[in-house]
Amino acid sequence: MNLAPLVPHDDHIEVIDQTRLPFVLATLALRTLEDCAQGIETMQVRGAPLIGATAAFGVALAMAGDAGDAALEAALARLARTRPTAVNLHWALARMASRLRPLAASTRAAAAWAEARAIHDEDIAANHALGEHGARLIAERAATLGRPLRVMTHCNAGALATCGWGTALAPVYVAHAAGIAVEVWVSETRPRNQGLLTAWELGRAGVPHALIADNAAGHLMRQGEVDLVITGADRIAANGDTANKVGTYLKALAAREHQVPFYIAAPTSTIDATCPDGAAIPIEARSAAEVQVVHGVDGAGKPAQVTIFAGRCANPAFDVTPAALISGIFTERGLYPSTHITEALA
Ligand code: MRU
Repeated sequence: MNLAPLVPHDDHIEVIDQTRLPFVLATLALRTLEDCAQGIETMQVRGAPLIGATAAFGVALAMAGDAGDAALEAALARLARTRPTAVNLHWALARMASRLRPLAASTRAAAAWAEARAIHDEDIAANHALGEHGARLIAERAATLGRPLRVMTHCNAGALATCGWGTALAPVYVAHAAGIAVEVWVSETRPRNQGLLTAWELGRAGVPHALIADNAAGHLMRQGEVDLVITGADRIAANGDTANKVGTYLKALAAREHQVPFYIAAPTSTIDATCPDGAAIPIEARSAAEVQVVHGVDGAGKPAQVTIFAGRCANPAFDVTPAALISGIFTERGLYPSTHITEALA
């Protein structure tokens, strides 16, 4: 796993511009609070854990210029408005606030950078740990079946969505590194096609995979072509209901019908103990323009987009999978039944 979506430098962070992937691999320097806020809003940085870490560095960059109380509160408020569903954003901001509010302004800049750095490093460690828990399950099932395990995922919950390793893909990477044969069904995840990011990173890592249209998932399960589903999460409510990229719920329904185990993988920073159930999770409504266009490359390999529909569209970006459809949730602390997920915070 050699993909580093966020690299902290002395006075800025360097991130991969995910709006240009998989066609162009380019990095961006985020030097200010506003750079970080806009990077999150435009989805140059995306994925719940990476959004949280970028927001933490956004606070730290603000403190480097003005570490007064008003600047701190303004930075927290600005970043909190960037995206609504991924709770890691609010988790990271709350952690920065409780670390920085009690401090004198003169010590805040250094403390803020250190705290953001800790959030970044802990995310990598947490994802690797949950990957080890998930890889044990992959190894057991592959051994029982005596053939490569076929895992289906949705959206991109790989290294790109985090500070490293990924969430849903961490078990795949750990298993692959241990020599366990695993193959991945990658759903394209319209409208933004984050499945292409998943295919791109699995390709770099040498993990066998195939891209499918989102609507192929039920058919493949019915044909017995899927052994396990693992997706990431943007927010897990106290009762285990889980918000993830829109389309996850349909996969969970099909998995239940076909007795395919359906797992979530997420660090504990994605659990929102204050949110009682899925009905209380805010679902981001994104621009109709995302549904209206398809991005690709032209004949010369240059990024291009085509409008496929100019009429009215609705674009809910996430959906909620009820806890009852979730076989278990991998966190850095182990595998938990969905309905007991708050025990992972104890
Ligand atoms: O809208 P995004 O791309 O920021 O959505 C987040 C996701 O990629 C997925 O929902 C993912 O499974 C959760 S983040 C590990």
